[in-house]
Amino acid sequence: MKKKAVNIGIIGFGTVGTGTARILLKRRREIEEKCGFAIVLKRIADLDIKRDRGINIPKGLLTSDSQSILNDPEIDIIVELIGGIHPAKEITLSALKKGKNIVTANKALLAEEGRQIFKEAAKNRVEVGFEASVAGSIPIIKVIRESLVGNRLSSIFGIINGTANYILTEMTESGVNFETALKEAKELGYAEADPTFDIEGVDSAHKLTIMASLAFGIPFSFKKVYTEGITRITPLDIQFASEFGYKIKLLAIAKQDGMDVELRVHPTMLPADDLISGVSGVFNAIFVHGDAAGDGIYYGRGAGEMPTGSAVVSDIVDIAKNVVSGAGKSIQRMSITDNTGLKIKKMEDIRTGYYLRFSALDKPGVLSKISGILGSHNISIKSMIQKGREKEKAVPLVMMTHVAREKDMIGALKKIDRMSVVSGKTMYLRVEGEEG
Ligand code: HSE
Repeated sequence: MKKKAVNIGIIGFGTVGTGTARILLKRRREIEEKCGFAIVLKRIADLDIKRDRGINIPKGLLTSDSQSILNDPEIDIIVELIGGIHPAKEITLSALKKGKNIVTANKALLAEEGRQIFKEAAKNRVEVGFEASVAGSIPIIKVIRESLVGNRLSSIFGIINGTANYILTEMTESGVNFETALKEAKELGYAEADPTFDIEGVDSAHKLTIMASLAFGIPFSFKKVYTEGITRITPLDIQFASEFGYKIKLLAIAKQDGMDVELRVHPTMLPADDLISGVSGVFNAIFVHGDAAGDGIYYGRGAGEMPTGSAVVSDIVDIAKNVVSGAGKSIQRMSITDNTGLKIKKMEDIRTGYYLRFSALDKPGVLSKISGILGSHNISIKSMIQKGREKEKAVPLVMMTHVAREKDMIGALKKIDRMSVVSGKTMYLRVEGEEG
């Protein structure tokens, strides 16, 4: 052991920065006892060093000059908690070039610019810890990279955005519409002032990109992730889903089948008795199937000051151990190549079951026309509900189908939506968790 203390600098003193500082200061003695060396929070940089975060920061720790952290030769690990791409990218690259290890919670930065970040880290023989970038306190990065390292992973899917899950849970349990549930999420501080990334699935797609790269060794493929959010979900669909025995969840799905990889984020109907369906409110859960380990589910808090701070501290401690022992310099932590031969499937080639809600006139022959079009596109109906009876008026006609190809479904719906007896655009949702 060469060193008895590892110095840390935090850049970005927002929610996660505050949680991280709180844990490092409060648990300093325990961490030292567990590790055998001290982890010292040496400096915290933020543009706003006046705001009271409800935490006692020792004098002299705060600075508004991030360069003073980047240029401090005594700092071994820089914790980037600014979020977003700029200036986080520039600060991270500059830190790596200076030989600093990085710990980050920045999923957008890794999903979109990960190639450059990890290349620079490898060049400078330093590490990038990113446990906090996916699913907050759930140690899913460790699970994929370390615990299941002896497995071939074929399926990773789950709820990795707490805001969207809170909204869908509220819509399911209180029967409110999307707008009301979003307003509540904002009032409770779960949704950002601009919640676009959460409700449009972008945040989940960032996190899925990172997990898929780790699991399959493929390059960061954020641009190839099919991404659809929850804004078009109505209380009516939630109610029908429940009548068929399903729940609607925003799922992030990564599957490997032969040389094909599926990467998609969209609202999904899951059997109500599936363990993932029982994940409520802001909680996250991720299902992973490994060929040796079998099925596993990892559950916990995916956001917030202390849960995400907890994940940041776990990376700090891991990397600090390597700083102390010198092992970090020889460890290759990220194994991503362009040569896996794996191909990301086009969305039109995906095969799933579907839920369809037509708004169709209640008159003789309508159902047979709709089912005729579905049949001619190789789509087989599994079950059906028609609600209400209003002569010559449109009523909801709801179907569940057997597994079909997305391209066939899109083609069939185009034709069905042009029928004069069908009003408005047909609502469709993909269904997981059932074969056939
Ligand atoms: N906005 C994210 C969520 C948390 O709602 O889960 C940070 O990744």
